[in-house]
Amino acid sequence: MSDIRCIGIATGGGDAPGLNAVIRAATKAAILQHGWKVIGIPDGFDGLIWPEKSFELTLDKVSGILPRGGTILGTTNRGNPFSYKSEEKGKVLDISDQVIANAAKLGIDAIITIGGDGSQKIGYELFQKGMKIVGVPKTIDNDLAATELTFGFDTALHTVSDAIDKIHTTAASHHRVMVVEVMGRDCGWIALAGGISGGAHVILIPEIPFTIAKVCKFIADREKTGRDFTIITVAEGIKLPPEMKENRRAGSVGSLIGNAIAHGSHKEVRVSVLGHIQRGGSPSPYDRVLATRFGVAAVDLISRGEFGKMVALKAGSIVGVDVARAIGRLKSVRPDGELVRAARAIGIGFGD
Ligand code: F6P
Repeated sequence: MSDIRCIGIATGGGDAPGLNAVIRAATKAAILQHGWKVIGIPDGFDGLIWPEKSFELTLDKVSGILPRGGTILGTTNRGNPFSYKSEEKGKVLDISDQVIANAAKLGIDAIITIGGDGSQKIGYELFQKGMKIVGVPKTIDNDLAATELTFGFDTALHTVSDAIDKIHTTAASHHRVMVVEVMGRDCGWIALAGGISGGAHVILIPEIPFTIAKVCKFIADREKTGRDFTIITVAEGIKLPPEMKENRRAGSVGSLIGNAIAHGSHKEVRVSVLGHIQRGGSPSPYDRVLATRFGVAAVDLISRGEFGKMVALKAGSIVGVDVARAIGRLKSVRPDGELVRAARAIGIGFGD
């Protein structure tokens, strides 16, 4: 028998479409399956510095949030209780004991941490101090090794494909090179899958070193076959070729790449940076289902007393993995993997 009566839910780090679907699913499962009380903790673990800001999540409160982007709980990527930047200038404090005490004051027996690698790491450190924590992984970048997919990724791909579809017609009309910069801080999944689904001609990702000369040659070769426009998807996290590195801070990588290609190809180049548009909007049906499964599975972990674990998608099933073994492990695109090989097979260039 579980001794849980009340759980807390917190969302940390950058938002992703589907967060509200997790909050809704976990709240519903906790109330309907177990009769637990559910507390929403605002703005990640920051919400436990000021416990009076927390509020009860009822069935009414989560009604209608499934299709909403963002998170009704709010989030922050600065809320680390182990290195909390106090008002006092420059002072960094460990306020984790205060956070744990405040959770207890609220009557919270266990917490679901919905967040990326940083939030899971904080959750794990709190778990090591005795807090009952389970994790739900989140990032539109889809770069966590512990899970095959994270919710938000599919929605971001819809946004990227839609943008590239629109870029296509204007690129073709003006015979231009169009550079589309997408998110992906460390890994190229959005650029790769978004580029394939949008019909990009060149895809530049952090995992595959490229040169501007090779990209320009690709453009010139296309021209020779009568294709006088080229669409290039660039992941924001690409590693610039050595000759461009010193310019990294001069603007978006998309603009840097665009300028270099304009210089090297003598073509007209335009750059679109999709930015946070990719993090917004209503979650896709796939993300809603995955987020719902994650939310329910997190409640299941709590009911079984499996703390220090994170839900994950493995071979199509939802499983619990040790957070300790999940954190700090990136899932990079394999340059020789099936998706890159499929892209190359249909003539997509990687600038290598
Ligand atoms: O990790 C997710 C992500 O969307 C990255 O792709 C991007 O670099 C980063 O978050 C942006 O974060 P912020 O919202 O803090 O600008």
